[in-house]
Amino acid sequence: MLFSLTDEQLMIQSMVREFARKVLGATAAERDRSKEFPADNLKKMAELGLMGMMVPPAYGGEGADTISYFLALSEIAYSCAATAVVMSVHNSIVCESILRYGSEDLKQRYLPVLADGDKIGAFALTEPEAGSDPVSQITTALRDGDHYVINGTKRFTTTGKNCGLVIVTAKTDETQRHKGISAFVVDKGTPGFKVGHTEDKMGLKASDTTDLIFEDCRVPAANLLGEEGQGFKIAMTALDGGRIGIAAQSIGVAQAALDASVKYAKQREQFGQKISKFQGLRWMIADMATELEAARQLALSAAAMKDRGEKYTQRASMAKLFASEMVNRLTAKAIQIHGGYGFTKDYDVERYYRDARVFTIYEGTSEIQRVVISNHILKDKRRP
Ligand code: CAA
Repeated sequence: MLFSLTDEQLMIQSMVREFARKVLGATAAERDRSKEFPADNLKKMAELGLMGMMVPPAYGGEGADTISYFLALSEIAYSCAATAVVMSVHNSIVCESILRYGSEDLKQRYLPVLADGDKIGAFALTEPEAGSDPVSQITTALRDGDHYVINGTKRFTTTGKNCGLVIVTAKTDETQRHKGISAFVVDKGTPGFKVGHTEDKMGLKASDTTDLIFEDCRVPAANLLGEEGQGFKIAMTALDGGRIGIAAQSIGVAQAALDASVKYAKQREQFGQKISKFQGLRWMIADMATELEAARQLALSAAAMKDRGEKYTQRASMAKLFASEMVNRLTAKAIQIHGGYGFTKDYDVERYYRDARVFTIYEGTSEIQRVVISNHILKDKRRP
């Protein structure tokens, strides 16, 4: 490994691996069938410090670095990708945004309950007509005394049904573009806030994805995150970290697909020998391992940049783009190696293929990552 991990990082990785393979891996296929939200497992993960991983101990978290978080999230995704996306949004987007932009009051009120797993966090930016272009959102938040009144519908909210709180963006000034958007922390149970349609998805079935409906929902002004007009910046900053999270999910699922393929190729016999003896298949495995390692190093470099306090937007987009496309290629090859059996639910690779499909879409499509990356390159004045 190019990155030399510290003893602490290796210890976290091995602790999470042991937990995930024993507790999550054993039941992931069943959850895929039942679509049951992994509430009990998330509670166990909170006990292990995985639900407030980068939250400082002063607010009840572990104070771990981004590399440790990346390693832990990859291990969770290896065993259950549906659980990993809940952990990812909760940590990289919700906890991080409150930590970075929240008032002392918001940090005190919300970070300890998030880290304890008492409330699971969700993030509501997308709307029916505002996906890749969140500036075109139409949800409004109008000031009324010491409250804001939110009206609008959010779409594709991960954990919308099972969350305890949600960070919602809304327009506080319709005359402005992105500078008219603000972000709020809204508790589940606030009058006027209800869960709408739950999507019936191709994969990640145990993680709910829902509409959230706000009808004259009154939120205390104290729950404004950052300042009025800062919501778009908060969302973009959160997505930078979130994109390292999606790279981690991609790498975890890809490793699981590769391991399953190697195991199968060493067992399955055709033409009088193990299929692992055939060069066509060996080269597939070589390509899979090489691509996976390239994605891992890119994602680790983005995590290391974040830990060093450097600007890492471009690197996070590169890691998300490459890792999410890599896992789609890898899971397709894993099915190919498994032949007809790979197309059945008897083998986990069928689930890996479905779960990975959304990775090139959520938290910014591959096309949006290319916009971010090319913008950075073309605007860089140090380049010729
Ligand atoms: N960090 C901080 N600020 C940023 C930023 C970043 N990464 N990216 C942009 N900004 C700031 C800019 O500096 C600019 O601010 P100023 O005017 O003060 O200079 C402002 O934001 C506007 O920037 P742009 O003009 O570049 O914005 P844009 O409208 O052209 O959009 C975009 C840029 C990259 C396309 C952006 O809209 C984007 O990332 N879109 C994809 C959205 C997305 O990922 N959605 C997924 C939602 S979450 C989800 O998937 C569900 C889930 O729960 C998992």
